[in-house]
Amino acid sequence: MSVNVSMAAIPAAVSEFIRGPHKLLIDGKWVAAASNKTFSTHNPANGSLLAEIAAAEAADVDLAVNAARRAFDDGPWSRMTPAARAKLIWRLADALETHAEEFAFIETLDNGKPLNDAKIVDLPHSIEVLRYFAGWCTKLNGESISISNPGTWHAYTMREPVGVVGSITPWNAPLMMAVSKIAPALAAGCTVVLKPAEQTPLTTLRLGQLILDVGFPEGVVNILTGFGETAGAAMTAHPGIDKVTFTGSTDVGRIIIRAAANDFKRVTLELGGKTPVIVFPDADIDRAIEGAARSIFSNAGQICNAGSRLYAHRDVFEKLVDGVSRRASEFRVGPGLAASTQMGPVVSQEQLDRISGFIASGQNQGAELRVGGGRIGSEGYFIQPTVLTGTRPDMDVVQQEIFGPVLCAMSYEEADLDRIAREANATSYGLGAVLWTQNLSTAHKMAKKLKAGTVRVNGGGLDPALPFGGFKQSGWGRELGREGIEAYTELKSVAMAL
Ligand code: NAI
Ligand code: MG
Repeated sequence: MSVNVSMAAIPAAVSEFIRGPHKLLIDGKWVAAASNKTFSTHNPANGSLLAEIAAAEAADVDLAVNAARRAFDDGPWSRMTPAARAKLIWRLADALETHAEEFAFIETLDNGKPLNDAKIVDLPHSIEVLRYFAGWCTKLNGESISISNPGTWHAYTMREPVGVVGSITPWNAPLMMAVSKIAPALAAGCTVVLKPAEQTPLTTLRLGQLILDVGFPEGVVNILTGFGETAGAAMTAHPGIDKVTFTGSTDVGRIIIRAAANDFKRVTLELGGKTPVIVFPDADIDRAIEGAARSIFSNAGQICNAGSRLYAHRDVFEKLVDGVSRRASEFRVGPGLAASTQMGPVVSQEQLDRISGFIASGQNQGAELRVGGGRIGSEGYFIQPTVLTGTRPDMDVVQQEIFGPVLCAMSYEEADLDRIAREANATSYGLGAVLWTQNLSTAHKMAKKLKAGTVRVNGGGLDPALPFGGFKQSGWGRELGREGIEAYTELKSVAMAL
């Protein structure tokens, strides 16, 4: 990390917003927490205090859920036409576009990610997700059903909003996550209580201001900043919430399932991953090197489907590992506000320690450090892009989600697709898988064999129309696409004797 980098100047509107005050959004008004408690959010690039934030607890959850209930049950939201809902969601997208630069700065300051990434990934994707789901408001249909005795009854299905949704989001892409939760919920006609991660509440709070500005009725979206163990747990236990949607760790996913079991809340979970990147000898190796490096070093590896396990055929293994290691040492690590930065800090001291702990445990269990491995500087939470070789399937670094810029590189011997798939599938996760091959037959056969919610071949990204989610312990259900909005509905069957 170079010390004398030139930093982007923070726009006045951003400084003013960050100064606060930062309260809870309940029933269309910004209010302090009932307890008056606050917590602080920090800038991961230097550890400095950014802002004090209201800390919601059970009493605030109760107020927010009641507001969302009223707006859903007999408030203006339930009487609004789908086309009017679509217009409001589209207006929110326009407002986000108008303020995109400001949001990108706030995200970089709170989360640490490079400003350029926030501008070219987080903001455009968030805006597209809103517009995509705005379109769905007017297109949610049931079906007419052909029953077994034609002519004796008429039968059809219809989709109704599930009700009040409690959404709990993580810190790795805070705005994208907040938008990916509220857009389909609102499009389906639900109301929302949204809790951002305690590490990164700011863009969600700024989004709350835009939600009021564009004219959403009060109580439709409520925002509760606070901790998981207090605010989050109170949401998952609250009988007024019909559905919980959560993105975060598999451990908390398990806690949420147990809490939701009491009253059978609907649950969608998008949890951890341990995505394998499988390189066949016929792959375009230069593109595979670049793709593998980006897949694990983008957002400092803090991506649920980061390509964290590399499996390359032994004929191309050395070339690949050399290439990815070279890219690792070239990656410019620095503060997100510096124009030259390609990888920012990780989000917190806790994550830095967790990642360093994994690297040490890998080495203790016999892995070899090919490149990286160390913390950079003593200010902020910077860590080097890291490649480990000599890793084996039984090691913690190969089995567990590290959520940092750490790649475990392994080779395979022969061309038996079943064996390769078996090894790639041998973790408790099943979120993503990446293939690099020029052979169509290999690609299709492998796509079928891999236990993963998303299989990418030679690249491909995230799209609002493409369902996203995991097999196995990577979660329940899908977000985005048609399945993503249907997850916010109940299906009703109507049967009528003729
Ligand atoms: P976490 O799962 O604890 O936090 C995610 C969200 O859940 C936050 O909003 C948090 O406040 C909330 N939460 C925490 N405990 C809760 C509870 N008992 N009830 C309801 N909500 C609760 O994740 P954390 O601790 O920040 O990160 C630890 C690890 O989790 C990471 O190293 C990474 O492996 C994984 N993770 C995965 C993510 C993904 O996108 N798949 C995102 C964030 C973390
Ligand atoms: Mg946690």
